[in-house]
Amino acid sequence: MRAYVLKHYGGPEGLQLMDVPAPTPRPRDILVELRAAGLNPVDYKFRQGKLRAILRPKLPFVLGNELAGEVIAVGSDVKRRRVGDRVFARVARDRGGAFAEQACLDEDHAALMPRNLDFTAAAAVPLAGLTALQALRDELGVKPGQRVLISGGAGGVGTFAIQIAKWLGAHVTTTASTLGEALVRSLGCDEVIDYTTQDISKTGGRFDAGCELIGGKTPEQMLEIMRPGTKIVSIAGVPEAQTAIKDLGGRRALAVVFWIISYGIRWRAGRAGVSYRYLFMHASGSELVELAELIEQGKLKVIIDKIYPFAKSSEALAYVEGGHAKGKVVVTMS
Ligand SMILES: NC(=O)c1ccc[n+]([C@@H]2O[C@H](COP(=O)([O-])OP(=O)(O)OC[C@H]3O[C@@H](n4cnc5c(N)ncnc54)[C@H](OP(=O)(O)O)[C@@H]3O)[C@@H](O)[C@H]2O)c1
Repeated sequence: MRAYVLKHYGGPEGLQLMDVPAPTPRPRDILVELRAAGLNPVDYKFRQGKLRAILRPKLPFVLGNELAGEVIAVGSDVKRRRVGDRVFARVARDRGGAFAEQACLDEDHAALMPRNLDFTAAAAVPLAGLTALQALRDELGVKPGQRVLISGGAGGVGTFAIQIAKWLGAHVTTTASTLGEALVRSLGCDEVIDYTTQDISKTGGRFDAGCELIGGKTPEQMLEIMRPGTKIVSIAGVPEAQTAIKDLGGRRALAVVFWIISYGIRWRAGRAGVSYRYLFMHASGSELVELAELIEQGKLKVIIDKIYPFAKSSEALAYVEGGHAKGKVVVTMS
């Protein structure tokens, strides 16, 4: 089969389209013939070697984290999936494999695709959709009537986050540029802060929950406008000890490192009376079932910015790397 293989960390030249043997399912695996794969910033960050402290699979390694396709074989212990199922999934983060014509993954990480989506749209959902659900509902516990601030609402995760926060009953404010404003408003966002002309920390809002998708100075700026006693969950800032313990399987040495590097933001958060958490999302077939229901009920739309053919995946990844995608970027196999 053809696959995008990471030969070495660094620039785009480390990723090559090659013929490789098709993967063989382990007992709990399904083998999927891909129809489409979603792209995410984690793909280029992984290629650059920025995740080496956390994930260290042996190279060469087939890149790619989310997919949609048809099950063509199942392992001996697979209970719920069968050949012919149309599934979508975020694969296990240390496994990759989605930028390929076929991929193996644990059956628990896949779910049946929403009936009203084609493969292209379904492939855009898993990673960003799960991240938004896990941040807003599972970590922040957003309740009806709360004022939620989301930084970066126009991107892959942001477009899901706005809609999920609205579904949870929140009043939603997001940061976006002029180019992203119409999109975030069309998703139900109540208020927009133009991050290119306004200093977030001076906007004066008082928020009950913060969902931080940008990193850099943004988490600090958000702290200035949170109510004391509230929480910010970041997916793009600095990881902290809980990230290593809760999200990365109780890695104590890593927890110490993360505790040290997050000292500054935790200190500032403490001074503002706000708690700071960095979430590393996880694969979950059961939460994908929930997202599929929301999509089938018309409560969650999938926003796709660009679609590329599989053979142009490197071009697609360069576009994501540019940092200005409005919604998701997907490659299709046919
Ligand atoms: N920890 C985890 O588990 C996890 C999971 C998923 C993603 N992430 C991380 O979360 C981040 C967001 O992911 P994504 O998929 O949403 O990225 P993305 O789709 O590449 O985000 C692009 C969007 O960000 C907007 N943007 C750029 N700078 C901004 C700023 N300073 N303020 C507000 N908006 C800004 C851009 O808007 P304009 O073009 O209009 O500027 C664009 O629409 C990435 O760093 C990714 O690696 C982490």
